[in-house]
Amino acid sequence: MAELNIAIAGDLHDQWDRSDHDVLDRIRPDALLLVGDFSDGKSRIPELLATLELPLACVLGNHDAGKDGSGRTLRHQLELLGDRHCGWGLRELRPPGLAVVGARPGTAGGGYHLSKAVRAVYGPVGLQESAERISRAALSADPQLPLVLLAHSGPSGLGTQVDDLCARDWKAPACDWGDQDLALAVDQIRRRRPLPLVIFGHMHHALCHHQGERLSFRRDAQGTAFLNTASVPRHGVDQQGRALRHFSWVVFDDNGDLRHISHRWYGVDGALHYEQTLWRAALPAAGVLSPC
Ligand SMILES: [Fe+2]
Repeated sequence: MAELNIAIAGDLHDQWDRSDHDVLDRIRPDALLLVGDFSDGKSRIPELLATLELPLACVLGNHDAGKDGSGRTLRHQLELLGDRHCGWGLRELRPPGLAVVGARPGTAGGGYHLSKAVRAVYGPVGLQESAERISRAALSADPQLPLVLLAHSGPSGLGTQVDDLCARDWKAPACDWGDQDLALAVDQIRRRRPLPLVIFGHMHHALCHHQGERLSFRRDAQGTAFLNTASVPRHGVDQQGRALRHFSWVVFDDNGDLRHISHRWYGVDGALHYEQTLWRAALPAAGVLSPC
């Protein structure tokens, strides 16, 4: 297995265009993952994603249903995305050799709640059933492949302070706004196989009411990394007037072990202008280094 470089685009909120494809052409990740909230149900971004040659997987967010409770808009997004969408299912990307399992599509966080649109498309799926769909998909993945859970909202259990990864920031008191079905699925999966990484968005990095920036990374005692990729807006301009495109970046080594996680801001020419390293695997202890 070769080293795997994965680019992740957090909530797009309409900010995805040809310049992002140009950046990807230049930086050449092995795969692209997207956590949803592309737009408010417009066709443009799913149609653009369909033109990418890069192996990709995505899950839709609460905004992708538009304001259409009938489910028609959500259903149309799903049709446009085809098997690129892996909500409640497994998508094995070969190449490069990565198992991606999508969590519950269309979630807006807050424990467990199905929107009218999600209910119209998928039926009245309960919390336990949702967790089982996610864990069943994960446990059917090839155990040789690194496993990533891809969600719109992250799991509950990642903290109750306003700047925690999935905490409510728009209304006091701050509280855990993560999804309980995803937390349950994480537990179920980890009893049976390693789960190195859970990726999500929804809770934007910039907190409401000028409360600062949210934490976007945590690795727990069982070795699972949790990454919030929702840098919104993901298109920006720096003080020198250079256009920037945000991607989160994950590297698995050739043993399938997680090596590196960061947020990156690229110029439209593919130059890496800024990087915030969130985590890097420790080097082996001196005693186990092999001689040159
Ligand atoms: Fe969202």
